[in-house]
Amino acid sequence: MNAHLTRRADAVRAASSARLKCITSGQISQCPRVQIRHQAQPTTLQGGHTASSVKGLCTEINGFSYPIDEWTNVPASILASVSRRLHVQPSHPVSLTRQLIESRFPSPTYIHYNNLSPVVTVSQNFDSLGFAADHPGRSRTDTYYINEHTVLRTHTSAHQADTFRKDDSEGYTISADVYRRDAIDRSHYPIFHQMEGARMWDRRKTPEGDIAKTVWSDVQRLPKRTLRVEDPNPTVNPERNPLQAKYHSIEEVEAMAAHLKRSLEDVIFELFSKATESAAAIGNTEMPPEEPLRVRWVEAYFPFTSPSWELEVFWQGDWLEVVGCGIVKQDLPINAGVPDKVGWAFGVGLERVAMLLFGIPDIRLFWSQDRRFLEQFSSNQPIKPFVPFSKYPACHKDVAFWLRSTSSSAGGGSRGNSQDFHENDIMEIVRNVAGDSVEDVRLVDEFSHPITARKSLCYRINYRSLERTLRNEEANELHQMVRERLVDQYGVELR
Ligand code: DAH
Repeated sequence: MNAHLTRRADAVRAASSARLKCITSGQISQCPRVQIRHQAQPTTLQGGHTASSVKGLCTEINGFSYPIDEWTNVPASILASVSRRLHVQPSHPVSLTRQLIESRFPSPTYIHYNNLSPVVTVSQNFDSLGFAADHPGRSRTDTYYINEHTVLRTHTSAHQADTFRKDDSEGYTISADVYRRDAIDRSHYPIFHQMEGARMWDRRKTPEGDIAKTVWSDVQRLPKRTLRVEDPNPTVNPERNPLQAKYHSIEEVEAMAAHLKRSLEDVIFELFSKATESAAAIGNTEMPPEEPLRVRWVEAYFPFTSPSWELEVFWQGDWLEVVGCGIVKQDLPINAGVPDKVGWAFGVGLERVAMLLFGIPDIRLFWSQDRRFLEQFSSNQPIKPFVPFSKYPACHKDVAFWLRSTSSSAGGGSRGNSQDFHENDIMEIVRNVAGDSVEDVRLVDEFSHPITARKSLCYRINYRSLERTLRNEEANELHQMVRERLVDQYGVELR
């Protein structure tokens, strides 16, 4: 864990050990002797606590205490799931997917980190990676803040800088749970898992400092795979994806890009040919094998790589993005005290890949404790198509409302613009009220009043449990709570 956090957490614990008992992950407790930093502008916290009412509170995650403040927006339901760590649960499909990918990045070249704390500083998650100060990812509508300076990591890249600083190996993978306030649908969940990977070469340890030659000889040692690869663009694009000319020659970048691309193509080949084989073995014809497997490289942008790419796989009739990657921006190794290291990095969403490999139709299933789900997977048979156990009836309910006008703060708008409504806010309310009993939430209507310019929204909430039939009264009760919270927390006017 990051030293800054550790020191503060230890201080908090020592200060309050006599009176503070907050052992369970997810509890918010009195934290009387802790200094809380306050914002100039008080705002309303999730769940309706105001800043003044949280003075002296802290939250407990994995045995450490963190003071909460006006920035805090992590609900108890999220904190309660921090301990699940699906990526290391034996025979869980997220864990099986991780292991399959890790097996393509063997030791001693690569070290696999699977136990890094999800609590990181804003600096680790954003600043260290060159995210602009106004990047939308930093907003409280998108990110779970524990307090002003501390978040639940939104991606495993949050650990890049520290891992470069540690400098324990030429390469690494980091698999971990990541957290984002996001839409509710069958492929989005506020907690998911990513794997980060990187491979670096040290100019000082490379014969004659010839990085290009060394990297090309490493490329030769990678397994040769039969894929149909589309890669039409030049390696660098002067505007969108420039060469970092101060630090790399074009020959070096060509070599590193080739190593990155061949390494990831190998992963995809391994995963998807295994999935095809095991589907065929049980006579599943819904997964017709595409021979050879098709992948394509698409230009991308990330603040911490240049050039950058996404790798897409053609699977069951669609092109699907599976990996983001690129040549590491040299600021990272420089700031991490390893300026002679150059190389590549990638990030992949494990659920995304697992859903394709195992044919899992709804991301909520990964969190199911139902034996009918969990017992379908085993490390003895890594990729076996999931057999849905049943589909319970859906129950759609609409909620329509006028947003509060933000154009006029006359009449004492101390709750003014800080209350602006973001789509992720209704998602968060629905999640907090109904948890995994909602399959998706969609905007079905939106218009602005021609005279007042007031905006009206209508969302359709699809209540459907994966594990049982929801009674209509239950869905009604949940829906009523959603409506009430929209009014309480965002001052909307129901229609
Ligand atoms: N962190 C990125 C995300 O969450 C994924 C990613 C892209 C990771 C490029 C990388 C990378 O290391 O080089 O979308």
